[in-house]
Amino acid sequence: MPLDLSNLIDPKLVVLTAPRSSAAEQYRALRTNLEFLGVNGPLTKVMVTSGTPGAGKSLTSSNLAISLAQAGKNTLLVDADLRRPMIHHLFGNGNLSGLTTALTRPEEWHKHVVRGPIGGLSLMTSGPIPPNPSEMMSSPIMMELLVQLGQAYDMVVLDTPPVVSFTDAVVLSQTMDGVILVVRAGHTSRKIDLKGKERLTQVNARILGIVLNDIEMNDEDYSYYYGYGDRK
Ligand SMILES: Nc1ncnc2c1ncn2[C@@H]1O[C@H](COP(=O)(O)OP(=O)(O)OP(=O)(O)O)[C@@H](O)[C@H]1O
Ligand SMILES: [Mg+2]
Repeated sequence: MPLDLSNLIDPKLVVLTAPRSSAAEQYRALRTNLEFLGVNGPLTKVMVTSGTPGAGKSLTSSNLAISLAQAGKNTLLVDADLRRPMIHHLFGNGNLSGLTTALTRPEEWHKHVVRGPIGGLSLMTSGPIPPNPSEMMSSPIMMELLVQLGQAYDMVVLDTPPVVSFTDAVVLSQTMDGVILVVRAGHTSRKIDLKGKERLTQVNARILGIVLNDIEMNDEDYSYYYGYGDRK
């Protein structure tokens, strides 16, 4: 009997809720591209960010994490967006514990991880929002926690705030193996998107590629859908 996830899971987690849709197929293609990029160097800790808010970071990171888990990777999805945390909403979880509570006792981080809706997927929601998110995200304890998480899982996927509004994601990119930038079609100006990319390249973040979200596609558009490869 198929699992009824409809009450808990946001329907936009299409890799789970509409696995045959073309959107789900694109998220699986994103996973495959990541696997290929991993050939050039370790690719365990990946973060998803964007220039401006609302680009689709949370949906992209969540669908990517689901498809990685479906491919047999032991995957942890971390909500490192302490500005607008969404992972608990998308997966229908509570949020009393998570990243921020894990940071108070990093040696016990595993107590702040919950099982996701499918085998191989674990979730660390944001936890309660502190008054000083930037300080928390840039703390040595956060960096150390990320190293530990990278050692414990095949893949760690971070959802983060937009880079133009906050420094959090720029700082976090330093500890990541790679960054996926999400651009939402018709949503932001190219100038702001480029500014976001610049902020990351200034700190030598490894930009793996750009996901163009929310675009109407016909067959001819497919070849323009993403640009992948190491981008500086
Ligand atoms: N391709 C899409 N099709 C339909 N709705 C979408 C699409 N991408 C994003 N959305 C919707 O747009 C809103 C923003 O998406 P999401 O939360 O993933 O973006 P975000 O970049 O994480 O935003 P924030 O900067 O607030 O964290 C959500 O309501 C989401 O459901
Ligand atoms: Mg978000």
